[in-house]
Amino acid sequence: MANHTDKISIETAKTSKIETVDFSKLDFGRVFTDHMFVCDYEDGRWQAPKIMPYQAMTFDPSARVFHYGQAVFEGMKAYKDDEGKVFLFRPKQNFERINKSAARLAMPAFSENYFFEGLEELLKLDNDWIKPGIGNSMYIRPFVIATEPAISASPASMYRFMIICSPAQSYYNSPVRVLVAEQFSRSANGGVGAAKAAGNYAAQFYPTSLAQKEGFQQIIWTDADSHTFLEEAGTMNVFFRVNDTLITAPVSDRILDGITRKSIIQLADDLGITCEVRQIKVEEIKNAAKDGSLKEVFGAGTAAVISEISAFQHRDELFEISGAEDSYAKLFKQTLLNIQYNVSDDIHGWRHEVK
Ligand code: COI
Repeated sequence: MANHTDKISIETAKTSKIETVDFSKLDFGRVFTDHMFVCDYEDGRWQAPKIMPYQAMTFDPSARVFHYGQAVFEGMKAYKDDEGKVFLFRPKQNFERINKSAARLAMPAFSENYFFEGLEELLKLDNDWIKPGIGNSMYIRPFVIATEPAISASPASMYRFMIICSPAQSYYNSPVRVLVAEQFSRSANGGVGAAKAAGNYAAQFYPTSLAQKEGFQQIIWTDADSHTFLEEAGTMNVFFRVNDTLITAPVSDRILDGITRKSIIQLADDLGITCEVRQIKVEEIKNAAKDGSLKEVFGAGTAAVISEISAFQHRDELFEISGAEDSYAKLFKQTLLNIQYNVSDDIHGWRHEVK
């Protein structure tokens, strides 16, 4: 893909909001840093990018994103080590995935140099917002929306690519209880499940709100045809540990190709833990829970990192998972965090320093 050569123009904020933020009590995704990155697509090309003070924006009410949901996004994090160095984790994967999502929604690909230069400039400007210490991070949200004012149902000719940043701690504060989907579906063959399309998340809110009324934070989605196979949890991919074997569903056009997921599969190999990537029947996991061989269930995602799942319900059967003493979830989380925070070696070259 052609790289774009316009220089990023930078307008810095006159004052910073940072003094108003209590970094010890961050509610995920509610506080945003002082700056944002903006790049518009018009006349068949991405125009000169800008970094400007974080602010509200105006859009024409007929902007297509409001009518047809032509919007995709990414989730990334920046981490600061004890010496103040800032790192991204496998950022090229996010860049490639946002363009894959965009292609699925008939949106133009973004340029690699704008993505990296914009992101790095932004992180340098808002560096003070990235706090060191494992557990503190900067959540980064790149996204693209269709801005063309026109309500005919077809791809837009104008888009806005943006990056906003939010200091973050954990997404889930305690182990998660999940309901196995039986009626609703997140995605289907040939659909947009593998894309980080905004609508994939909106469509989960209603079934998830019903699950929440029953005391579950999340739904584990099953295949739309038969509700027989376990797929993903919507905010994270899911891993099951049966005896000492880890099992996770293969990615497909229904399941998001999670970066934390693929990192865990690699780490399992590094650590000598067998990880099977294959279809998983709901019945198989229920039977494992009944005979005591189901040792752990956990989710993996950028926001969620690795979140233990303490219970799941399928139909009227509830299974509590007590958790293993030699917890794989804790082992993977620590191994991953050590790489992300520059505590351990990075044999796969996953860290990307922001200089
Ligand atoms: C992420 O993990 O970055 C996501 O995009 C999930 C979102 C629901 C917070």
